[in-house]
Amino acid sequence: MTVVGVLGAGQLGRMLALAGYPLGLRFAFLDENAEAPAGHLGDLTVASWNDHAALDAFANTVDLVTYEFENVPVAAAERLAMRVPVFPPPRALDVAQDRLKEKTLFRDLEIGTTTFATVDTREDLDRAVAVIGLPAVLKTRMQGYDGKGQRVLRRSDDLDPAFAAIGGPPLLLEAFVPFERELSIIAARSRTGETAYWPLVENVHRDGILRLSIAPAFDADGAVVDAAVAIAAKTLEALDYVGVLAIELFQHEGRLLANEMAPRVHNSGHWTIEGAKTSQFENHLRAVLGFPLGATEAIGLSAMVNLIGETPDSAALLGIDGAHLHLYGKPARPGRKLGHVTLVEPGREALGSAIAQVATLVAEPTLRR
Ligand SMILES: Nc1ncnc2c1ncn2[C@@H]1O[C@H](COP(=O)(O)OP(=O)(O)OP(=O)(O)O)[C@@H](O)[C@H]1O
Ligand SMILES: [Mg+2]
Repeated sequence: MTVVGVLGAGQLGRMLALAGYPLGLRFAFLDENAEAPAGHLGDLTVASWNDHAALDAFANTVDLVTYEFENVPVAAAERLAMRVPVFPPPRALDVAQDRLKEKTLFRDLEIGTTTFATVDTREDLDRAVAVIGLPAVLKTRMQGYDGKGQRVLRRSDDLDPAFAAIGGPPLLLEAFVPFERELSIIAARSRTGETAYWPLVENVHRDGILRLSIAPAFDADGAVVDAAVAIAAKTLEALDYVGVLAIELFQHEGRLLANEMAPRVHNSGHWTIEGAKTSQFENHLRAVLGFPLGATEAIGLSAMVNLIGETPDSAALLGIDGAHLHLYGKPARPGRKLGHVTLVEPGREALGSAIAQVATLVAEPTLRR
């Protein structure tokens, strides 16, 4: 039986395992946290990413390694790659971990991205603001997620407190993009080089956290879809990528600007579990195992609502006709992603009323746009 080793055992690992069991796969996870939510779905090794003996022992129990967490130290992935195949390639991890490398790659590939400058000192910040202007977004280059480690700078008075609050360099200053909307493209590339792209997703964030995804994105004309696919195709190719890759995009004045990428399955692809012919989780596994990729067409119109900070009563949510509830088994904490609900409907009107029903149970203002 093929054993897939997964670095990280969060909800993404959990959903990978749920997609892999029907294919006859087994899972082994490695995580620093003994309470990690995928621990109930496979063997869980609890160890530090720097524990060489634990990494070597883990490699000996699996047929290949992939990851569901992008801040695994590259050295750990490289160490595992000496013993077993590791997909996506550790270089993709390296690029995605540092916003400077990520944006530099986009620029080198002639993929539109916002203007940016590195900031290592308070004086650098003044120089960067002089070039980029305000408003701008100051971000940590490493370790940021769900909008953590970033501040919007609107006035010159914001510079001192933002620099002090963000907790030190290395930082990146980006021009603020007054986007019309946020989109993402989820793509897969297999060990055989085969590629597949899901329909474009529209994403609504609040306080830096994804709240709602709609797929296929409304009113995305052929040119926008082609532009997004071209961005993903170039990135897959450049990284000799294997697995699922997500690229977050801003739509601004008819153009797409790449914001960041995730070298893994992505929250804005959760709708594919029920809303596409093949889910991102199944295709990630197919890709890293070298199987043919499954069809990525949408089945209807989907909405994915994140459950953040608290989870509504399960019985009430499941009472909504067609609602698919996913709970990750994580303790509640403010701002934490604890689960999601997916709705799949044949058209916009039916989707709107299904979202309105979820909105009555979820304290989420973005649902009442
Ligand atoms: N340059 C920008 N201009 C306008 N809005 C921005 C900019 N950068 C980030 N944002 C907003 O903040 C959100 C989070 O930013 P970003 O995706 O860069 O950070 P993150 O913390 O790594 O998020 P993730 O959880 O996706 O990893 C974006 O989805 C967008 O809504
Ligand atoms: Mg993001």
